[in-house]
Amino acid sequence: MSCLHQEWPEPIVRVQSLFESGLDRIPDRYVKPEKERPVIEPVVEDGVDIPLIDMSDLFSSDPEKIQATREKIGEACRVWGFFQAINHGVPPGLMDQARQSWRDFFHQPMEEKQKYANNPTTYEGYGSRLGVEKDAVLDWSDYYFLHYLPSNLKDHKKWPAQPSYHREVVEQYSGEVVKLGRRLMKVFSSNLGLDENYLQNAFGGEDNGACLRVNFYPKCPQPDLTLGLSSHSDPGGLTILLPDPDVPGLQVRRDNKWITVKPAKHAFIINIGDQIQVLSNAIYKSVEHRVIVNPNLERVSLAFFYNPRGELLIEPAKDLITPQNPAMYQPMTFNEYRLYIRLKGPRGKSQVDSLESSR
Ligand code: OGA
Ligand code: NI
Repeated sequence: MSCLHQEWPEPIVRVQSLFESGLDRIPDRYVKPEKERPVIEPVVEDGVDIPLIDMSDLFSSDPEKIQATREKIGEACRVWGFFQAINHGVPPGLMDQARQSWRDFFHQPMEEKQKYANNPTTYEGYGSRLGVEKDAVLDWSDYYFLHYLPSNLKDHKKWPAQPSYHREVVEQYSGEVVKLGRRLMKVFSSNLGLDENYLQNAFGGEDNGACLRVNFYPKCPQPDLTLGLSSHSDPGGLTILLPDPDVPGLQVRRDNKWITVKPAKHAFIINIGDQIQVLSNAIYKSVEHRVIVNPNLERVSLAFFYNPRGELLIEPAKDLITPQNPAMYQPMTFNEYRLYIRLKGPRGKSQVDSLESSR
C-alpha cells in the first residue's frame, strides 16, 4: 500500500499567521462539532492526575528499589497508559534548551519556515494539518515533523538550519531521549514477563524507528470551540512528550472524562502507543488524548515517538497468547498501520479497535 497523495487537498493556512492577523473569531474550518468541544475551565487542583513516577531508583544498586519503581511503571501502563516521569536521566538543561530552540524556530519570519513546508508523502517538515480529506475540520496548531531513526531516514537537510545551534541541540536531545526509550523498553518487557530485550528486538533492534513532532499551539480567541489536537491514540510504540511547563493543555481520557495533566518540573509525559498495545496483546492499552488551547498563552510541546521500524510486522508476543487470551490482532507493518492517521487525521482509537480479531 502506498500513499497516493503528493499534495494537500486545499491550500495550507498557518494557524500562527491566522492568529497574528488579529481575528477575534476563529474561521469555521476550526470549529469542532458540539460533542467534541472542550469545557474550558481553570485547572482545578482536585488531585486527579496521571501517576507521577520518580525514575531515579531504577539507577539504584538496591534491587528492591529497582523492583518497586518497575512495579509503579507497570501499574501505570496497565491502568492509565500514561505517566509522568521525573529524574529520568535526560539533563534538565537540555530539555529547556530543546524547547526554547523550537520556540525560536516558530518565531522566525514565515519566509524562513516556509522553506521547510511539508507534504503528505512523508510529512517531514513544517506542517499545519494531519490527514488529506478535503473540507476536514482542522486543529488549532502548526507542527514540525522529522525523522531521527532509523539512521537511513535521518536527513539533517530536512531539519531547520536556523537558529544556528538548532540541529546540534535537536541531535543531542534526541540522543538522550532515545536512551530513555531504550531503558523504558526493557522495563516494559520485563514487566510483561518477556525477555528484557523482547520489545527492542521487535522494534528492529538498535536501529529502531524514532521521530519528533514539535507542536506549536498559537493563542486562540475561542478555545471553547476548537482543539489544538483532536482526540487520538498515538499510532507508534511509545511517546516521550516534553510538555510546556507553564501551559497545561494535554488532556487524557479516563472513562468518559478528560483529565488535564499538570506538568511537573522537568518531567516527561510518557504514554503507550498502538504498537505496544498490539505487541502486549492489549495488556497495555494506548489511551486517547487531546490538546486544548488557551486565549492568553501559546504552547510548545515536543512529542518524541519511539517506534518499530516501518517495514517490520508487528503482532502479539507469542508468550502472551494463551487459550484464555488468544491473539487479539493480526500482524501488520507499522508503515501500513500509520497510513490511516496520515490519510484520515486524528480519530480517537478507531483504528486499533477496528483491528481486533473477531473471536
Ligand atoms: C501528539 C500529542 C500532546 C501535546 O503530538 O501526538 O499528543 O501535549 N501531543 O502536545
Ligand atoms: Ni499524541
